[in-house]
Amino acid sequence: MSWLRVKSIESLLAVEEGKRLHRQLNAFDLTLFGIGCTIGTGIFVLTGVASAQYAGPALVVSFLLAGFACGCAALMYAELSAMVPVAGSAYTYTYATMGEAAAWIMGWNLILEYAVSSAAVAAGWSGYFSGILKTIGLPLPEILTKVPHDGGLINLPAIGISMFVTVMLVLGTRESARLNAILVAIKVTAIFIFLAIAAPKINSDLWHPFMPFGFQGVSRGAAIIFFAYIGFDAVSTAAEETKNPNRDVPIGLIGSLLVCTILYILVSGTLTGVAKYSDLNNSEPLAFALRGLGYPWGSALVATGAICGITTVLLVLIFGQTRIFYVMARDRLLPQWMVKLHPKYKTPHVVTWGTGIVVAAVSGFVPLQEIAELSNIGTLFAFVLVSFGVMILRGTRPEQNRPFRCPAAFVIGPAAVLSCVYLMVSLPAMTWLRFLIWTVIGVVVYAYYGYRKSPLHPTNGV
Ligand code: ALA
Repeated sequence: MSWLRVKSIESLLAVEEGKRLHRQLNAFDLTLFGIGCTIGTGIFVLTGVASAQYAGPALVVSFLLAGFACGCAALMYAELSAMVPVAGSAYTYTYATMGEAAAWIMGWNLILEYAVSSAAVAAGWSGYFSGILKTIGLPLPEILTKVPHDGGLINLPAIGISMFVTVMLVLGTRESARLNAILVAIKVTAIFIFLAIAAPKINSDLWHPFMPFGFQGVSRGAAIIFFAYIGFDAVSTAAEETKNPNRDVPIGLIGSLLVCTILYILVSGTLTGVAKYSDLNNSEPLAFALRGLGYPWGSALVATGAICGITTVLLVLIFGQTRIFYVMARDRLLPQWMVKLHPKYKTPHVVTWGTGIVVAAVSGFVPLQEIAELSNIGTLFAFVLVSFGVMILRGTRPEQNRPFRCPAAFVIGPAAVLSCVYLMVSLPAMTWLRFLIWTVIGVVVYAYYGYRKSPLHPTNGV
């Protein structure tokens, strides 16, 4: 039963000197970080498909449903990350609560949340970038902007942005946080420009019928636009690099989620109030709506904001992925070359390069739309495990210092689990199949590598 071995909270906190990441971020950095990762492809792109095909004007209800699930999960994350403020997020918490095998599965599924969605996001960025180049009369040949599946050869802009972000991350967290802050400001401004132009033009007739595809459509829409919320939990992956994690991480998590939820509700309500939901099935619904209202300059501004917004998402997602790999390697469940810190920048540069190159390669050659939902199911699964983790620790470690205690944890915890499972079952059967295949591959890798290399393995003498 050694795969049930649990890593104690004490040993998680006692990271070897020299392998500890440098503490330099504060609550404000973290909130921006959360917003940086959260507002992106989901609101700028997926709102169109979700309302046209599933939710109709009730898209706002879909955002509320998904936001409710994330809110409950955020409170769970806040309690755990303040208690165990080390890098690794959901993976680390699972190690401390449900044991090594569950932690491995968690880490493995976080690859869906971070790396897979990074590649999708890079491809989305490329679409906007190519669109803007076309608008200013400098179109790139399609062979260089489309993957082979879509009739091109390589998606060069997607590779370019992935590598740019990777270099930023190798150069240092502080610098990345600064770039992030600027880009977040630009994209939030773009959203406000959209609201300022569109809100006065709302025609409430467009909100009828409110639920053209019934409540099932609203649930399905929620399961898709859940993608828009992915990322706020990346705040917890930076806990080990935070100056005062006990206070700052809960503020960062809940603050960024709150800001995003409010903006999403305003944007989705306004969008479906200025354009017919059935016309929104395109890759740039916000810009489309503004053009329809007769504001081409507004649409150009929003497109520019979307490019910045999507860049920040990529920055935080790749950051989160490298930190999860780093911590798993530090626990010896992954190879040791992943633990090397750069002598000058103190960042885990080898694993950052590795992750960036893989994300770039995938986004450059693979059509990712089909597997975007895979990110959602992996993330929802992570939320479920984290919620169980909080409830288990309340029982097994009641005395443990909890700098942030989730109020009514035994109400919020089950609510988080049920709402996440509800969104999971609203995803298509194919997504479930892919998720199961991915998990089985993970189990095999664990059995042949992580299980044997772990310091908790009986023959490894710890
Ligand atoms: N939430 C992120 C986005 O919408 C992943 O792009």
